[in-house]
Amino acid sequence: MVFYILPERPRGYTKHRMNATDDTLLALKKNLDRPIVLVGLMGTGKSHLGQIMAEKLALNFCDSDSEIERTLGLSVSEIFAAHGEAFFRTQEYETIIRLLSNEPCVIASGGGAAANQDLMDHMRAHAIVVWIDSPVEKIVSRIGQARDRPLLQDKDPHATLEKLLEARRPFYQKAHITLCNDGNHIQDCLPDLIKALNAHL
Ligand code: S3P
Repeated sequence: MVFYILPERPRGYTKHRMNATDDTLLALKKNLDRPIVLVGLMGTGKSHLGQIMAEKLALNFCDSDSEIERTLGLSVSEIFAAHGEAFFRTQEYETIIRLLSNEPCVIASGGGAAANQDLMDHMRAHAIVVWIDSPVEKIVSRIGQARDRPLLQDKDPHATLEKLLEARRPFYQKAHITLCNDGNHIQDCLPDLIKALNAHL
């Protein structure tokens, strides 16, 4: 696995390998003054990494899709089927704005959230935004056949993900920190992320 931590406006990947010590974790706990939002395509490990990170930092974890599902009593697929994508995007926007008014916490956003310019601007202004980047091949091997992703229900999830990434990359690239998850265990990225968050603060 290779980790890449990028400055705010990437011109090329800079490679670092780092260990999170207790000191870096303590420093982050002490200095963190706003939420951390994870953005990136579906299947990059946002929710999994977010949960682990929240646990390490003793913070609340929220997943925007789960919040929407809980509020409406419907799954994301059911919301898309019954009300359409535009309705889902409005729910997503309002949910994330609401979550961002909280104390420091960790938020995993749905893969399309960052592609709303206003929402991305708001996330950047009120949180530390972390883009979890992952090769499309890896994503397909993780979630290619998943039935619960309404945008991936066609015959060629690889092509769909490539298209989504191409369209969304300019938005994702506005994240404060980029973390490349090209391995099988997203938790291995945690030390790098803790160090990058400290460096950002
Ligand atoms: C979507 C990603 C999904 C979910 C919805 C749409 C997208 O979230 O919000 O299916 O547009 O990329 P995850 O990224 O958590 O899978």
